[in-house]
Amino acid sequence: TSTIKELFEEVAPPVDTQHAKVTVVGVGQVGMACAYSILQQNLANEICLVDMVEEKLKGEMMDLQHGLSFTRHCVVKADTDYNITANSKLCVITAGARQREGETRLSLVQRNVEIFKKIVPNLVKHSPDTLILVVSNPVDVLTYVTWKLSGLPKERIFGSGTNLDSARFRFLLSEKLKIAPSSCHGWIIGEHGDSSVAVWSGVNVAGVNLHEVFPDIGQTSDEEHWETKIHQKVIESAYDVIKLKGYTSWAIGLSVAKIAQGILSNSRNVFALSTNVKGLHGISEDVYLSLPVVLGAGGITHVVKQNLEKQEVEKLHKSAKALLSIQNNITF
Ligand code: NAI
Ligand code: LAC
Repeated sequence: TSTIKELFEEVAPPVDTQHAKVTVVGVGQVGMACAYSILQQNLANEICLVDMVEEKLKGEMMDLQHGLSFTRHCVVKADTDYNITANSKLCVITAGARQREGETRLSLVQRNVEIFKKIVPNLVKHSPDTLILVVSNPVDVLTYVTWKLSGLPKERIFGSGTNLDSARFRFLLSEKLKIAPSSCHGWIIGEHGDSSVAVWSGVNVAGVNLHEVFPDIGQTSDEEHWETKIHQKVIESAYDVIKLKGYTSWAIGLSVAKIAQGILSNSRNVFALSTNVKGLHGISEDVYLSLPVVLGAGGITHVVKQNLEKQEVEKLHKSAKALLSIQNNITF
């Protein structure tokens, strides 16, 4: 325009920002917690929001855009049309129904599978090289569904899985041990849900295994009841928060931002993510559960082979069986 011509002598036309483009599908409580956390941590230079509800979508986009003078450079766009998602490095799917009070995650499966049948092919069409991080519940089953619908290699499709459960576990351990959550090392694996597995044999502070100090830790014989006071509280966390505020959002948003950082910075950090566990811990089927994985710009490069106790493997097999029976009833 003439004003611009008055202001600037053009040297060359501006090009599109090179890519740390993240698409977030679903601008509900979780999607916006993810988008805001990614923006606030300066992880992306383009955030693209997609949803079905046009007005909410536009409102969320504008509200984030109005804060851009406070953040490092990032373009924020939104549209109901998937064209806008083209060439995303990472697509985060948070769209879908959430649990009502007391409802299990698994009860959401059929409603959300139908939604995914519309979303996943559109994402892959516009970003054939993308990574997809599934958040919607039941996240393990929906990660399997995304892998099947996308046709992408398994290293590029993963779910937020028990990354959040492990964070809750570390927080509760920190409260009991009176040290920072970041200094309490512990992993929850398996289903992101009611049958998750606490790897008590691996809980440590500065490399000191609590298992060595309290050999019964996590067992029913354990006098301090770590399993019931800590792991069971992890399993109850979502139900408790949903009962109090109607949904969970901030912790998953921060968890997703950390995962996005791992990808966009090619960090090769280890996260508990929902991945295809066929061939691991004696599981012989294509089923998605969380195990510690090495994550980088191309997705998952390795799965950490933890030395699990017999009962930990048995619990993992139980989760796999339960999820497989749900998977086998899904009509694509
Ligand atoms: P919400 O109801 O606030 O938002 C869901 C959004 O999805 C809405 O904006 C809706 O318009 C959108 N949506 C529905 N169908 C769509 C479609 N076909 N295309 C695009 N957008 C569509 O729900 P909330 O609280 O954000 O939860 C979203 C999902 O995340 C739920 O399944 C919930 O269980 C899950 N979740 C998973 C967690 C995890 O740790 N994996 C943690 C917290 C929530
Ligand atoms: C959670 C549920 C909603 O917050 O997946 O863990």
